[in-house]
Amino acid sequence: MSNNIEWKNRANNAVSAAVANAYNIFVAKAKNAQLWDIEGNRYIDFGGGIGTLNTGHCNDKIITAVKEQLDKFTHTAFAITPYPQYIELAEKLNQLVPGDFAKKTLFVTTGAEAVENAIKVARIATKRLVVISFVGGFHGRTMLTLGLTGKIKPYKVGLSNFTNDIFHAPFPKNKETFSQMQQYFENLFKADIAPEDIAAIIFEPVQGEGGFYSIYPEAVKWIRDLCNKHQIVMIADEIQSGFARTGKLFAMEHFNIAADIVTSAKSLAGGFTLAAITGRAAIMDAPVPGSLGGTYAGNPVAITAALTTIEVMQQNNLPQRALKIGEQIESVINKIKSRVPQIKEFRRLGAMAAIEFYDPTTHEIDSAIVTKIQQLAINDGLIILSCGYGNVIRFLVPLTIEDSILTEGLNILEKSILTAANA
Ligand SMILES: Cc1ncc(COP(=O)(O)O)c(C=O)c1O
Repeated sequence: MSNNIEWKNRANNAVSAAVANAYNIFVAKAKNAQLWDIEGNRYIDFGGGIGTLNTGHCNDKIITAVKEQLDKFTHTAFAITPYPQYIELAEKLNQLVPGDFAKKTLFVTTGAEAVENAIKVARIATKRLVVISFVGGFHGRTMLTLGLTGKIKPYKVGLSNFTNDIFHAPFPKNKETFSQMQQYFENLFKADIAPEDIAAIIFEPVQGEGGFYSIYPEAVKWIRDLCNKHQIVMIADEIQSGFARTGKLFAMEHFNIAADIVTSAKSLAGGFTLAAITGRAAIMDAPVPGSLGGTYAGNPVAITAALTTIEVMQQNNLPQRALKIGEQIESVINKIKSRVPQIKEFRRLGAMAAIEFYDPTTHEIDSAIVTKIQQLAINDGLIILSCGYGNVIRFLVPLTIEDSILTEGLNILEKSILTAANA
């Protein structure tokens, strides 16, 4: 019989060491918020495929729709012989993405590709090159998106020298960092680049990999005004924050401000590979016909999954469910906080929740305690993800999780935190 250790050894021999695994458990099957490994062990999944499974593993409706599509056709290449589902989903996203203006959408396969294409569109539409992104932001692992990503380790190690066309501003997560950001722009415009030479400003409404920091609402308004004044394209990267996670379908809805382009992926298609770029029609139409797309872009199976995923989200009111899940997580942390001085902060927007740890004496970040919590939790059958600099636990639990499983998972988490903290 094969076991996890055996597969780990085979992985070590066969797979590039650059592809690391958070856990050495090899999956045999998964359903909603639970998965089982090849040894028959059961786990509660609070990681949801890094935020891809807001509708859970193998949602019945999504799987049925996908199976029906598999019997019809799996691929034609939309650029050669198109199919109606692609257009239906584009119409749906044009309607759902915030912004009271005409929109158009195009589909690609991964989040990084969505960001790449958003930048291409912005550069072509404005005939400018420079892009501003934010320190701590994450936009993907391709060469352009690595440039935009505001974090060296581990993503840019060995590759950290990118072009001068990208500048990283401090991320405005509160009043203080908002004023640092304003100062940064003032200096930038004085010393390096005129605002009318900037093609785009791209930000995550809630930084994902960076540590689950919500953007300061006044900063969104400030960036919007700056973009309006200088015809800069405002891009909201909703790849992790989108599709009900924060209590709204898109996190930008919390600010009542519309970006010119929104990128989405992950939970858009309930575990199938699909990403979208949705934006102002005039901007989206700027590239010449044939210049955007790709062989697999807008795969019909993934498109079908996405159409059903959106239905499932709306029918089950997942934004509302996200609020409830967020509250439940918060109540557990509130209960134990006073016994765990290593908890620096708990923060959340809806169910996009995170616990940050530090050394209460030195105030240095504490990633060791997060590793310990993860080890204790996995021993009891709970998968949790970290982010930031390994010092933050983030929750990306499926929003369809059953109440009893959520409670069971939170009990394991509580016990693991208390044990790791010796509380
Ligand atoms: C905000 C954000 N943008 C872009 C990406 C890149 O997506 P992908 O890994 O599908 O290329 C991610 C992935 O975590 C993300 O969280």
